[in-house]
Amino acid sequence: MPKVAISTADRVFVLTGAGISAESGIPTFRDAGGLWRNYRIEEVASPQAWRRDPRLVWDFYSMRRKVASAAKPNLGHIALASLEQALHDRLFVCTQNVDNLHEQAGARRVLHMHGELFKSRCDSCSLPPFADTSLHESPGELPRCSCGGKIRPHICWFGETPFELEQILQALDDCSIFIAIGTSGSVEPAASFAGHVAGRARTFYVGPEAPANRSLFDECFLGKAGELLPGLFSF
Ligand code: OAD
Repeated sequence: MPKVAISTADRVFVLTGAGISAESGIPTFRDAGGLWRNYRIEEVASPQAWRRDPRLVWDFYSMRRKVASAAKPNLGHIALASLEQALHDRLFVCTQNVDNLHEQAGARRVLHMHGELFKSRCDSCSLPPFADTSLHESPGELPRCSCGGKIRPHICWFGETPFELEQILQALDDCSIFIAIGTSGSVEPAASFAGHVAGRARTFYVGPEAPANRSLFDECFLGKAGELLPGLFSF
């Protein structure tokens, strides 16, 4: 079994993508059966889509809320929550996922760079994002803010800037080990994170197939996150 050796001097940056939740039954985006094989990104996940057809956008995110609320964390999420217990603030987990399975597994410090499925916010005023598990689906009314604006999913859509990039860049600068898990390496800026640390930090990838940005990694561990992560780390 391959190992990533972590010393007491190391700081670890973990980037997760849809693949870590695949074994929990949440579809990825680009694999066979993935969401973007069945939906057009520009029709459901962009500011233009929201302006054109907020009803369709809310139907899409309501469907995703339903799928995610039935899902339970798998051994991959649990292994990362255990890693947090061992490393405390020497571990930085940045996820592109909008589900809450890292938190359900017990992780306490997860940065959601693409937003959170179970939060909403107003598209007009500065109302902070709030917890929202409701299904705003057809034929119901679209949710409205008290300011009159439309309540939208707290998601980073295509064409929008991911959340907390400054904090992410700082953590990338600080890390000595970078591990990407279950992400195809095709969406920026996350696809460039490994390049940001290359030559300075050790870089690893975990997933069933090599990602598009494979050349940025020192080593790829090919297999499912739920099978590889529980035995991957040595201290
Ligand atoms: P993708 O669907 O692009 O890639 C999922 C990756 O997970 C693939 O490389 C698979 O090989 C891998 N995978 C599948 N099963 C796995 C398993 N059991 N264990 C580990 N890996 C597995 O998803 P992302 O790279 O996360 O953005 O996509 C990035 C962004 O594109 C998403 O956050 C989303 C999407 O459009 C927004 O919605 C803003």
